[in-house]
Amino acid sequence: MRIRVNKWIAAVACCLSLPAIADDSVTRIDIDSTHPGATINRDIYGQFAEHLGRGIYGGIWVGKDSKIENVRGFRTDVVEALKAIHVPLVRWPGGCFADEYHWRDGIGPREQRPVRVNTHWGGVAEDNAFGTHEFFDLVELLGADAYINGNLGTGTPREMAEWLEYMTGDSKSSVVEERRKNGRDKPWKVAYFGVGNEAWGCGGNMRPGYYADLYRHFSTFLKTPPGARPKMVASGGTGDDTRWTDVLSDQIKQNMDGISFHFYTLPTGEWGDKGASTGFGEEQWISTLWQTLRMDEFIRSNEKVLDRNDPEKKLGFYVDEWGTWYNPEPGREPGFLYQQNTLRDAVVAALNFNIFQRHADRVRMTNIAQMVNVLQAMILTDKEKMVLTPTYYVYDLYQVFQDAASLPLELENAHSYQLGKTSVPGISASAARGKDGHLYLSLVNLNPREARQVAVNVKGAEITAATGQILTATAMDARNTFDKPQAVKPIRYTASADNGTLNLDIPAKSVLVVSLR
Ligand code: AHR
Repeated sequence: MRIRVNKWIAAVACCLSLPAIADDSVTRIDIDSTHPGATINRDIYGQFAEHLGRGIYGGIWVGKDSKIENVRGFRTDVVEALKAIHVPLVRWPGGCFADEYHWRDGIGPREQRPVRVNTHWGGVAEDNAFGTHEFFDLVELLGADAYINGNLGTGTPREMAEWLEYMTGDSKSSVVEERRKNGRDKPWKVAYFGVGNEAWGCGGNMRPGYYADLYRHFSTFLKTPPGARPKMVASGGTGDDTRWTDVLSDQIKQNMDGISFHFYTLPTGEWGDKGASTGFGEEQWISTLWQTLRMDEFIRSNEKVLDRNDPEKKLGFYVDEWGTWYNPEPGREPGFLYQQNTLRDAVVAALNFNIFQRHADRVRMTNIAQMVNVLQAMILTDKEKMVLTPTYYVYDLYQVFQDAASLPLELENAHSYQLGKTSVPGISASAARGKDGHLYLSLVNLNPREARQVAVNVKGAEITAATGQILTATAMDARNTFDKPQAVKPIRYTASADNGTLNLDIPAKSVLVVSLR
């Protein structure tokens, strides 16, 4: 942090040999609009939909005979809400589920599809009503791209290769003809293809060198027609362990466009007792934000490794699972990972976005876990009812950053927010020039008790006003429920500049995105 010192006090202090007094009542942000950095890939705002709990069944897919209003079996309310935030990318079918999934179970007449047990998530029957055709129908309805995660853990290279051929092929092969017979003539676009998931854990308990060999083996047979090749994703590490990034970037020299990384925010940092989604105190507010901010340190250490092994920056660093993970809600099936979503989750999402945007040259794709009814969801449903979460609104606010050019920003006097021994910066910020040519600034006030004044200057542009939206609430765990679905919603925010300096008042615990004009 640079400390601004009142000149007069500094002069006196120097002569009297007194320590300088910092004038830190205002946080200062300097944006340089003359030196745009990396493009913030729209895929940073991707989502994840796994066969898990009510994530797909009931949450997205209800079948066309359902009483719940639907389009070809997809809930109309959920599809419309997701369309409104322009979801760019959806990852499917897992997660851990991916490494036990056989794609052939989910094609052909629905009534003839086999029933399996979802061994990872609640041991429930999986009737495969939602399969490859349904997934692509969904992403086409949303206007999103598809990220398919292949099965490396229990599948074979042939199964994986044939699935890719089924989706992208345009030949007269039996596999492609089968797709046509099942109702889809044109090939689909697969934007990303993941070779396995969490190979260090549920994907097979492998070591990085063994996985690297398997990746080389399987990916050799993954073929597509010219121009249809997806970005290929190797399943990487988690947390502060950079070994996976190191070994994979060193040992896989072909057929790989990026390495994935997973990190979940647990309020306590302990899997045994993660913390509750609601009813928490300030201690867990700050610990959750502190845990979230570790994402920055993890990305930095992996970037260091990548810069050594891939100096040409061919590889992306894909955070394809992130978000909050709390204790199971009392009375709910623990294996379904259903949790409430509060203002704290909104702040977590915005902090992660500001971090991803800062690392936009390497972090080119991420997926929040997960889209509906699972972990840090955009949407919660209960039969015919639906509610948009505070996290949904952060995705809504940050739409302006999709494919924007990141801008360098200097933050002075962020004024750390401290509780006990834990300390985090008081303000997080990110700026970019949007695809529409306008300048955008996002700000998060991490302090749940104190508002903050922020003075913004922009080099290379004359700013007269800021307009946008702010998301805040009185309680740290303010949330939308089926009875009160509008309790937490963004409201309009405006401010004007004085002599080129924009003075913004940022309420406690809030997320703000403004356009600077
Ligand atoms: O998102 C839930 C699970 O978390 C995923 O299935 C797995 O990849 C991770 O451990």
